[in-house]
Amino acid sequence: MTRHFLALHDFNRQELDEMLVLAADLKQKQKKGEAHPLLDGKTLAMIFEKASTRTRISFEVGMFQLGGHALFISSANSQMGRGEPIKDSARVMARYCDGVMIRTFGQEIVEEFARYSDVPVINGLTDLFHPCQIMADLQTVIERKSGYEGLKFAWVGDGNNMANTWIEAAAIFGFELALACPQGYEPDRHVWEWAEKIATSSITITEDPEEAVRDADVINTDVWASMGQESEQKQREHAFQGYCVNDDLLANAKSDCIVLHCLPAHRGEEISDTVIEGKYSVVWDEAENRLHIQKAIMATLMK
Ligand code: CP
Ligand code: NVA
Repeated sequence: MTRHFLALHDFNRQELDEMLVLAADLKQKQKKGEAHPLLDGKTLAMIFEKASTRTRISFEVGMFQLGGHALFISSANSQMGRGEPIKDSARVMARYCDGVMIRTFGQEIVEEFARYSDVPVINGLTDLFHPCQIMADLQTVIERKSGYEGLKFAWVGDGNNMANTWIEAAAIFGFELALACPQGYEPDRHVWEWAEKIATSSITITEDPEEAVRDADVINTDVWASMGQESEQKQREHAFQGYCVNDDLLANAKSDCIVLHCLPAHRGEEISDTVIEGKYSVVWDEAENRLHIQKAIMATLMK
């Protein structure tokens, strides 16, 4: 059966842990200059309906390093942008390629694509989830904290695709997660209810960023207006006042905390310049780890 990576919950904790171990191994190999052609001769189609720097580059470079090839397909320049049905595109692309990565709007789009695709489909970000990013974030946490168990994770800001995926992660991996989101910008209700049913750890939500960040080991934030929400920027700037990860807020966290941001960042909005450039920030390692975890995800699905 073809397996897809549309959300973290498509895999169990053990399988996700194995991907994280493989990502660390592939990172070592790449640093030592050792070849690791796990996907020799294979091809990945990358469909983008939204902008990207990290996702596109890490998948494309990653595929090359695995001995395969990646092709960039912008929906605007393909027949998908002219209304060719998703199910037709999926069946055709699966005849040419060994895997498909999609960045799009609704989660139902990647789900429909996957339903009709005979090859693995990877979610490169939807409005609901960003699973590849959270796996890179966990790889970064493991590197810095020698694991994720027993740590307190805090989310400050919008209840967006990143927040939803952190909720899934907390429920699957069993770590504590405290979210601070303004009223009206809470995470997805279905994701929350799903997590409540399976979580063995505490997952809480408050409107108070200080409360969420108190004694946290890992603090994570993201832009106030995600892709597709640009017209709400002004309204969101107003709603998110007080939700900036700055030095004052970090004074509530553990003194050896680390700060994650998936990037791109809006300095002075969700994160201060001093924090992103400062000693707690691990954002550049986090961005690099997109490459290594992407390779592990592709190798696991497409081998
Ligand atoms: N973090 C992330 O997904 O970055 P891009 O939007 O640049 O791909
Ligand atoms: N929440 C952001 C993440 C970007 C990587 C967005 O969806 O635009």
